[in-house]
Amino acid sequence: MRIGNGYDVHRLVPGRKLILCGVEIPFEKGLLGHSDADVATHAIIDALLGAAGLNDIGTHFPDTDGAYRDICSITLLEQTGRLLKQAGWRVGNIDAVIVAQKPKLAPYFPQMKACLARALGIDETQINLKGKTEEGLGFTGAIEGMKAYAVALLEEAS
Ligand code: CDP
Ligand code: ZN
Repeated sequence: MRIGNGYDVHRLVPGRKLILCGVEIPFEKGLLGHSDADVATHAIIDALLGAAGLNDIGTHFPDTDGAYRDICSITLLEQTGRLLKQAGWRVGNIDAVIVAQKPKLAPYFPQMKACLARALGIDETQINLKGKTEEGLGFTGAIEGMKAYAVALLEEAS
């Protein structure tokens, strides 16, 4: 078994869609980035790549490459899943924390888990999602950005 962790931050701005774990969430702001800026999926990808010893998201999907402009991050997660499979790994479980002052994310977790599970070809029970405010402190508290943390366990596919 191998463990990996991932972390990501994106700025919140008006006029962008808010996409988290592949799900569009109605909100007054959205995350800014080269791709769809899905901060939670990015942290999960980094946890998976980290566990496999395959560097990080930027190594595989550079934001200097026009091919990845506005790309759906779930597509990147699917590609990550294929890389892991090729390297002889299967996903044990994933646990992630999304730090957001607003909106309330818990109601969207079932849909988010379904989307992540479908992309990786795993069961929803292998994924756990948590929402957390930062009690109004810092950039997440000021609704200037969101961050996400993830850990992932991989097992040898054998
Ligand atoms: O109570 P505590 O300080 O531990 O947590 P909190 O950050 O105030 O969040 C309370 C609960 O709200 C969490 O357990 C999550 O279930 C939920 N939550 C959420 O659904 N979406 C967020 N953006 C933040 C928190
Ligand atoms: Zn990101």
